[in-house]
Amino acid sequence: MRHIMVLNAKGGCGKSTLATNIASYFANEGAVVALADYDPQRSSLDWLARRPDNRPEIAAVAAFEDGFRHAPRNADIMVVDAPARSHGKELVDLVKHAETIIVPVLPSTIDMQATTTFVEELKSVGKIRHKQAKIAIVANRVRDNTLIWGDLDEYLTKIRVPYVAALREAQNYVRAYTRGLGIFELPEYIAWPDWDEWEPLTAWLRSVRSQP
Ligand SMILES: Nc1ncnc2c1ncn2[C@@H]1O[C@H](COP(=O)(O)OP(=O)(O)OP(=O)(O)O)[C@@H](O)[C@H]1O
Ligand SMILES: [Mg+2]
Repeated sequence: MRHIMVLNAKGGCGKSTLATNIASYFANEGAVVALADYDPQRSSLDWLARRPDNRPEIAAVAAFEDGFRHAPRNADIMVVDAPARSHGKELVDLVKHAETIIVPVLPSTIDMQATTTFVEELKSVGKIRHKQAKIAIVANRVRDNTLIWGDLDEYLTKIRVPYVAALREAQNYVRAYTRGLGIFELPEYIAWPDWDEWEPLTAWLRSVRSQP
């Protein structure tokens, strides 16, 4: 089973939004998918509870209660939604469960600075140092695509983490979450700009570059 974790100590950057969308993406590709929620806020589990029966099924794992004990053994992919403020031993323990780590970041100075500090901590974890897990950054809630790249470059080039996609701020994410769907399950005429933006992220997730 492959584990894809969405992780950033910074709150509100889009971890649950990315986790639910990644889970629904792979479920629609025909994979057997589980979604594990390590956050007692339960955002991913609440989304699953809203999911309509006629959509590809995703198994719920309440990881904040008892880890992966109730994870289905036959899952191909486990998407893991991590809580904010994970540091120190808690971070080391979380990272044990991931081969691929996606770090969402909002295009604000406060968020980028906090994420730079977080990524430095993440890179000091033995598993990451020894390249047993791969990390990528995803810019989220981007309003102006031209501004973000310069700033992100400045913050993140030095610490050498690839940033693989920039996702715009869009009501589609809110709409999809409310209905228990991913943006890939919204009608094309509404969601095609978001599908285009996800392409580099899903390509990275499918490629060997995202796996140790
Ligand atoms: N690209 C986007 N466009 C519009 N709204 C978004 C986008 N990404 C996230 N949001 C909204 O921003 C808020 C925070 O997102 P989300 O809950 O996914 O972040 P989080 O990192 O999981 O937060 P927490 O740290 O509290 O767990 C939510 O209301 C969500 O709907
Ligand atoms: Mg969350």
